[in-house]
Amino acid sequence: MKPGDPAAVEQLFDAVAPRYDQLNDLLSLGLHRQWKRQLVRSLKPAAGETWLDLCCGTGDLAMALGRCVRPGGVVIGLDAAAEPLAIARQRQQLQPWLPLNFSQGDALDTGLPAASADGIVMAYGLRNLADPAAGLKEIARLLRPGGRAGVLDFNRLPDDSTAASFQRFYLRRLVVPIAAAAGLRDQYAYLEQSLKRFPDGSSQVRLALESGFSAARHRSLMSGQMGVLVLER
Ligand SMILES: C[S@@+](CC[C@H](N)C(=O)[O-])C[C@H]1O[C@@H](n2cnc3c(N)ncnc32)[C@H](O)[C@@H]1O
Repeated sequence: MKPGDPAAVEQLFDAVAPRYDQLNDLLSLGLHRQWKRQLVRSLKPAAGETWLDLCCGTGDLAMALGRCVRPGGVVIGLDAAAEPLAIARQRQQLQPWLPLNFSQGDALDTGLPAASADGIVMAYGLRNLADPAAGLKEIARLLRPGGRAGVLDFNRLPDDSTAASFQRFYLRRLVVPIAAAAGLRDQYAYLEQSLKRFPDGSSQVRLALESGFSAARHRSLMSGQMGVLVLER
């Protein structure tokens, strides 16, 4: 599959959706939950605020944000693929008091009003966009002045580093075989391909500053395997 091809990416996540949460837990040993909790805590979403979860997938981050913005706030979860959104909406039915609104759309062209969000998160989405720099520009456009955003994803490492060797080992020897057992070999082989065209942390910071953010910093998690880009408008 060609990384960044929007139609193929949508198809991929539609296919993965029924096993996505289970595989995420298994392949990260549940750690993705901790990274997402840390991300939310660091961004300090508050009651009454409007937050966006772009590339929301099955909606776990949107739900975590939904708990923080009550009462009076709202979280819009946006994803390009219908199947993950169907799962997000099922989850929402189990906690109908959360102020969540899931809708299908493109994170590069959300159609939402400028400066309408107090905060934005994007987890494992930026790497999948046809143009990650354009994704950062859209986040900057959507945030109100003073708003904050957090982007969580795999960390692009220098090819010759030990951490990159571990990452390749993890992706090739653990992720792909486990996903293959679930019938999703090609879909998870795409992960390594998508990482090859993903900007590293310092490039993300540069792109963010060029996109109009007043502050941007990138920090790594789990010995450099994951990265979080924290942004202020
Ligand atoms: C790896 S999943 C991450 C889902 C969720 N944020 C999480 O952390 O579990 C990536 C998601 O990005 C969505 N996506 C990819 N390209 C997109 C785009 N241009 N606009 C909106 N969503 C997109 C996919 O459909 C998929 O659900």
